[in-house]
Amino acid sequence: MNRAEFYTPGMEITPTSSALGAEVSGIDLRSLTDADVDAIIDAWGDHGVLFFRDQDLSPEDQIAFAERIGSINVNRFFSAVDGHPQIAEVLKEADQAQNIGGGWHTDHSYDTEPAQGSVLYGREIPPVGGDTLFAGMGAAYDALSDGFKEMLNGLHAVHSSRHVFGDGARGREGVTDRIGNPDAATQDSIHPVVIAHPHTGRSLLYVNPGFTTGIVGWNARESAALLDFLYSHASRPEFQTRFRWTEGALAMWDNRSTWHFALNDYHGHRRYLHRITIEGCALQAA
Ligand code: SIN
Repeated sequence: MNRAEFYTPGMEITPTSSALGAEVSGIDLRSLTDADVDAIIDAWGDHGVLFFRDQDLSPEDQIAFAERIGSINVNRFFSAVDGHPQIAEVLKEADQAQNIGGGWHTDHSYDTEPAQGSVLYGREIPPVGGDTLFAGMGAAYDALSDGFKEMLNGLHAVHSSRHVFGDGARGREGVTDRIGNPDAATQDSIHPVVIAHPHTGRSLLYVNPGFTTGIVGWNARESAALLDFLYSHASRPEFQTRFRWTEGALAMWDNRSTWHFALNDYHGHRRYLHRITIEGCALQAA
C-alpha cells in the first residue's frame, strides 16, 4: 500500500496511511479527461479521502469538477458563497472562537439518502494549525472481532440533524453567524450500523459522534455504552490520516467510509474554505 500507484500518464496516487487517504499529484482538476475522472473515482473508493495540492480553481471550476463526480446537494444550513448556492462557506474569522466541524462526524448521515461525499477547497489557510483529521471506517470495522461484528451486523442506528442544526442546539451557539435555517433541521433517519459501500461493497462502520443519537430498540444507556465504545475504537490513531492544508489544496472525502474532524488550533488567524457536497443514495446493510 505504500507504493505509489500509476493510473493515467502523469497522475500519481500515493497513499498517506494504510487505513485511508491518498495524495493525487500530476493532475490539474480543470482539465481532466474521462479516464482521469474514472481513475479519481476508483481511487476515492479505494482510499476514502483524496488530497490534491496547488489547484487554481475559481468557484465555477470547483463546481465543474464536483459535477463530474456527481450531482450537487445544495446545503440547507451553511452560508453560501455569493452567487454560488452550490458552494458552502467553511469559515472561521481571526476573532471567532468556534469553528465548523470541530468534532468527529460524517456529513449528512441524518438524511435518508446521505450525501456520498464532499469536495473542500482551501482559499485562506492559517500559518499554523487548522489541519483536518480523517478516520477510516473500513479499517475500524475490520479490526473488530468476528463475534462483535456479528452482533453489530444486525443493528440499526438513528441519526438526526435536530441537536446540531435545530433551534436551541448547543453546537450552534458559537456559529449562528455562519450556520442558519434551524427550521429546516427536521431530518431523522435510520441506517444499518454496518453498511456495504455502495460502489466497492466493503463493510463499513456507519455511526458517528456528530449525528447518531441511538441504537434502534435499545434504551439510552445501552445505546450510549455501545456508541461510546465504537467512537473510542474508530477514532484510534491507527485508523486516521491527517491533512495539512495549503492554499489551493483540495480534499474530497467519502462520507460513507470516513469521518472527519476540523482542528480548532489556529486562534487569531482566518481560515476560509469552499465546500461542495455530492448527493448520495440509500444505504444497505453489509
Ligand atoms: C467540515 O466538517 O465539513 C469542515 C472540515 C474542515 O474545515 O476541515
